Amino acid sequence: MDSISVQGGRRLEGEVAVSGSKNAALPILMSSLLTAEPCFYQGIPNLRDIYTTSKLLTGLGVKIESTGLGELTLQAESITNPKADYDLVKTMRASILVLGPLLGRFGIAHVSTPGGCAIGTRPINLHLKGLAQMGAQIDLVHGYVKAKANRLRGATIYLDFPSVGATENLMMAATLADGKTVIENAAEEPEILELATVLNEMGAGISGAGTNTVSIEGVDRLDAVSHKLKPDRIEAGTFMVAAALTGGEVMVTGAPAEHLEAFLIKLSEAGAKVSIEKDGIRVKACSQPKSVDISTLPYPGFPTDLQAQMMVLMSVADGVSVITENVFENRFMHVQELNRMGANIRLEGNRAIIKGVDGLSGAPVMATDLRASVSLVLAALKAEGSTEISRVYHLDRGYENIEQKFSWLGADIQRIKR
Ligand code: UD1
Repeated sequence: MDSISVQGGRRLEGEVAVSGSKNAALPILMSSLLTAEPCFYQGIPNLRDIYTTSKLLTGLGVKIESTGLGELTLQAESITNPKADYDLVKTMRASILVLGPLLGRFGIAHVSTPGGCAIGTRPINLHLKGLAQMGAQIDLVHGYVKAKANRLRGATIYLDFPSVGATENLMMAATLADGKTVIENAAEEPEILELATVLNEMGAGISGAGTNTVSIEGVDRLDAVSHKLKPDRIEAGTFMVAAALTGGEVMVTGAPAEHLEAFLIKLSEAGAKVSIEKDGIRVKACSQPKSVDISTLPYPGFPTDLQAQMMVLMSVADGVSVITENVFENRFMHVQELNRMGANIRLEGNRAIIKGVDGLSGAPVMATDLRASVSLVLAALKAEGSTEISRVYHLDRGYENIEQKFSWLGADIQRIKR
């Protein structure tokens, strides 16, 4: 297992380009199951989650060709096997997103249940309830969801929580259903809108994506598509925190300001100078970050995927801040490791109370999940001395060329191959 070693204390400066969005790429790649025609995508980031998705889809019978330049062509003329195995699903929960497209087009799906993960129990009840309302017969057998349907039929589905994955799965399933489906209390994340754009380009009848009510008029078939992925808003936010944290100035090219509103407000309140420019967002640090309170919420609220990064900034801010996590039940795995690096963070249920300290110090730390691991990299960039972060495979799930990108900005960071 590789680790990452960082000599902290350097000011980050320069320009960094954001890669294509991981969270948009995953459902979009899965959506290729909905058509027999070729689907061509550009801007696909080189990430472990993309590799896992390719492996999963290939296992189902999808033909995939890659140019090696972030371009993939996927074609699902037929499937050879409707089964998504536990071995893959346990490494990437988003694997559950094959369920809707498989059922919608082929009427059969056997998908392992993902189980819990480091950031909570994360059930899939909303996915299953919605599909059942569309007429699927769903059984849970030996840890697998076994689902079948003749043809799904349109339904009005209310989500108890605006789950991103459930909205995507149901939206994909509904594209080929008989009649109209309405998803109420749908997630409004930009990735939902991007998926809907791709599906509509394929011939689907989706309206309202990006709002809390999504309507899908079922069609008989979907066609080929060509799409270039939009930049990753979470990666963009991560580099902006790095600039603010290290006293630096970084131009994050491709950063989508329109999808980072809540985050940019908080970053500015924390004292960073944020300028929205034609090609992206420039962030210049202030002399010392100010403490701000943050509550994570579904979009357009503050994204849970940027919570851990902002916590690092708050750990060296002037004063006390409170971060409340409302989306996931156990998303504070980074706190213990940050405290080992000298932060002063106390947990009270879903709230973290952070008392700003003068500085952090390097220490050996362990990554536990994707966003927690990047927060440790950020802390290491700020800390005095050397930090070694182990289990960085979590990081490789969602950050493309992270050590090169930080090195180009002036960080002393390297990967230790094992
Ligand atoms: C997606 C993102 C992830 C992000 C999250 C919230 C991808 C690949 N991942 O994850 O990076 O942090 O949205 O913005 O896009 N829930 C249920 N029942 C369900 C489904 C979800 O109770 O059937 C709960 C979950 O346990 C969690 C909350 O809803 O507490 C949010 O989950 P959800 O929006 O589904 O997140 P994901 O789609 O898994």
